[in-house]
Amino acid sequence: MLNNKKILYSGMQATGNLTLGNYLGALKNWVNVNQEYESLFGIMDLHSLTVRQDPTQFRQKARSLYILYVASGLDPEKNCIYFQSHVSGHAELSWILSCFTYMGELNRMTQFKDKASKHADNINAGLYTYPVLMAADILLYQADVVPVGEDQRQHLEITRDIATRFNGIYGDVFTIPEAYFGKRGARVMSLQDPEKKMSKSDENPNASIYLLDDTDTIIRKFKRAVTDSDTNICYSLEEKPGISNLIEIYAAVTEKTFEEVEKEFEGKGYGEFKLAVGEAVASMLKPMQNKYEQLLKEKSYIDERIKENTERAQAMAIKTLRKVQKKVGLTEKIR
Ligand code: TYM
Repeated sequence: MLNNKKILYSGMQATGNLTLGNYLGALKNWVNVNQEYESLFGIMDLHSLTVRQDPTQFRQKARSLYILYVASGLDPEKNCIYFQSHVSGHAELSWILSCFTYMGELNRMTQFKDKASKHADNINAGLYTYPVLMAADILLYQADVVPVGEDQRQHLEITRDIATRFNGIYGDVFTIPEAYFGKRGARVMSLQDPEKKMSKSDENPNASIYLLDDTDTIIRKFKRAVTDSDTNICYSLEEKPGISNLIEIYAAVTEKTFEEVEKEFEGKGYGEFKLAVGEAVASMLKPMQNKYEQLLKEKSYIDERIKENTERAQAMAIKTLRKVQKKVGLTEKIR
């Protein structure tokens, strides 16, 4: 609790170009609920280091992500939006928590297995302890709720397990966070392979809609989306994963139910439906894209917000960190 409000925490890695999956699974929900909470949103740049980055591009991507958060409707004067690497408490708490996390738990993480198979030449220790750093992000701010997409469910569970274990030894130190998944769009799939999630790291650009894609590109990608050879627009994950993914996207964007979507397109062909999905997505993204262009020109405004918010995050983080250091018995600094 802060200022009588519960605390909301979430973030995204500062790599690649954000996709429609990131938007529908996370960002859209953040925008919808942030005002009910004391909200913090991190640019998770330390997590991004688990994969090799080009330093210049990486810095640009991280800054661009900050601006995208703001352009999407997160007011940086009301929400604490900051860079993870600017608050040293994340790394410090992560170390302490790693001493309360079992290798057996980390071995079960499906995202690790997945990333290790994709980056077989660079299976580094950071990739392995990634969930511990994520637990530190969340627990450092005593978050009550963490809005994320489905793929982060396991990471939220391990965060709760680590916090519960720590509290069991040292008393009520951490708030146990709840995951929050949106009703629709928590698992947006690739447009080229509907069995795979839409991902910023996909090498095929036609598999993902990027948040900064223009209208023509968006419509073209939807037109090319892989579907079955049937003609009925009806939801069936097993039999029609491609069309089901498009229904899911359309329902999330228009806030309609699957039944309403099926009814709207009864007797219409896939071509017409794909065009409608493309147009709906493009017009949802347009205001954000315009705002993004405008914010790119407001360098000093953004710099000022980054500075203020880093100080806020730092002040919150240090409280938890000091408490944890004391509980585990580290010698207090002489001030
Ligand atoms: P990241 O950067 O991979 O994704 C950011 C958010 O987008 C969601 N998401 C999706 N949702 C629906 N469909 C998809 N295809 C899709 N792809 C991504 C993710 O679930 C996530 O909510 N480990 C996190 C970043 C992180 C974090 C945190 C999140 C680090 N520390 C603390 C919350 C709290 C990650 O890699 O997200």
